[in-house]
Amino acid sequence: MSRDLLIIGAGGHAKVVIEAFRAAQGWRIAGLLDGAQAGRTVLGVPVIGGDDDLPRLRREGVSAAFVAIGNNLARERLGAALAAHGFVIPALIHPAAFVSPAARIGAGAAVLARAVIGTETVLGDFVIVNNGAVVDHDNLLGSAAHVAPGCALAGNVQVGARSLVGVGSAVRPGVRIGADAVVGAGSAVVKDVPDRTMVGGVPARPLRGKSVAG
Ligand SMILES: CC(C)(COP(=O)(O)OP(=O)(O)OC[C@H]1O[C@@H](n2cnc3c(N)ncnc32)[C@H](O)[C@@H]1OP(=O)(O)O)[C@@H](O)C(=O)NCCC(=O)NCCS
Repeated sequence: MSRDLLIIGAGGHAKVVIEAFRAAQGWRIAGLLDGAQAGRTVLGVPVIGGDDDLPRLRREGVSAAFVAIGNNLARERLGAALAAHGFVIPALIHPAAFVSPAARIGAGAAVLARAVIGTETVLGDFVIVNNGAVVDHDNLLGSAAHVAPGCALAGNVQVGARSLVGVGSAVRPGVRIGADAVVGAGSAVVKDVPDRTMVGGVPARPLRGKSVAG
């Protein structure tokens, strides 16, 4: 029997999440929440309100919810709000992903199509391992970290909370990326990255841009 699920967000990442939940089966998407887009539909799913509607929807019996927002800090904060309102927060594992039976996947984490999660890897709550990303053995990804499409993380890599590893990047074995860091698209990370640092290039070096993770 399918259970009702709310999805928070109505943007590009929400579209990917809707399709992954449909592929995974077992859930009926009750609606999306995005105050700025109420009344719209996304892939046939109506936007039924904003974050303010969470307590009411919980009272009305919707018991499960999932945050589908690409910004890492916002995803972590909204995930904490869902937990505070008493929602069940499932992990989303696309049926075309491979997850080692010895891996641990946190609440609200998304492991998308063609992703690989290696043995004894731990994904924190609200992590995204995006389409086609490989996170090999013994990795530790902190809360709301995002490994973007097509990345390859070798063994024993750590990624701190809310950090982004940009699309198509590679990370050498044993490297530690700190919290709230950004690795630019297409980088090769061969040494540790401090907290709140943006790096990019091959090999990756500090950049002077303006972005924060997400
Ligand atoms: C690194 C990044 C965050 C920087 O964005 P930004 O803060 O807007 O910075 P800018 O584009 O102004 O670039 C700043 C400098 O860094 C350089 N730079 C930007 N991205 C780079 C990258 N991926 N690798 C190497 N250098 C990069 C720019 O050339 C520029 O150099 P300059 O000052 O010599 O001209 C962004 O370019 C990026 O790669 N984002 C990844 C996004 C992603 O993968 N998202 C996942 C979605 S699923």
